[in-house]
Amino acid sequence: IKIAVFASGSGSNFQSIVDSGHSAYEVVLLVCDRPQAKAIDRAKKAGIDSFVFQPKQYPNKQVFEREIVQHLKEKQVGFIALAGYMRLIGPTLLTEYEGKIINIHPSLLPAFPGKDAVGQALAKQVKVTGVTVHFIDEGMDTGPIIAQEPIYVHNKDTKETLQQKIHQIEHQLYPEVIQDLCLTIGKETIKK
Ligand code: GRF
Repeated sequence: IKIAVFASGSGSNFQSIVDSGHSAYEVVLLVCDRPQAKAIDRAKKAGIDSFVFQPKQYPNKQVFEREIVQHLKEKQVGFIALAGYMRLIGPTLLTEYEGKIINIHPSLLPAFPGKDAVGQALAKQVKVTGVTVHFIDEGMDTGPIIAQEPIYVHNKDTKETLQQKIHQIEHQLYPEVIQDLCLTIGKETIKK
C-alpha cells in the first residue's frame, strides 16, 4: 500500500516509519504545512517527494485540502499516517480517505487531548501516561483507538526525559500499527 505521512515538525516519527523495514507499505509522499520543518530535510535525504504548503496562502481549509487530495491521488496513496501534523483534518480529506487516516498522540487518550499532552500529564502529576494510535474523525484526538502503550512517569522525569521515552515507544509502535493496517487493507483489496 502506498502511504503518505503528514508532519509539521521534526519528523522523527516520519523517519521511523520510513526506516522500519516493514514491507506492507511504502512511503511515497510527505505532506507538510510548515516550510521550515525538519521533516522536509528528512524526506529529501530519503528520496521521498514532499508537498509543502502554507495554509495562510489559501482562502480556507477546503481549498488546500483539495490540493492535498490531488497530490495523494497522483501518487496513488491509499493510506495516511499523521505524525505531528498540527491541524485538524477537514471533511474534504475525511470523506476521500474514510477510515484510512490515523494519528499518533503522546498520551493515553481520552486523557490529555490537544496540544502539549506531555506538559499536561506532568502538570496533573499522573503516574502513568503513554502513547495512543487512533483513527481520525472530525474531532480533536477523538477517533476510535487502535493501539495504546503505557509509560510510567517517575518523580525525576522532566518534560525532556518523558518526551524521550514517549518518542522511543512511538518509533516502535507506529510503524507496527501501520504495517498491520496496511496488511489488512491489502487483503481487502485482493478480495474485491
Ligand atoms: C509526537 O510525539 C506525536 O505523538 C505528536 O507529535 C509528535 C511528533 O514528533 N502527535 P515528531 O515530529 O515525529 O518527532
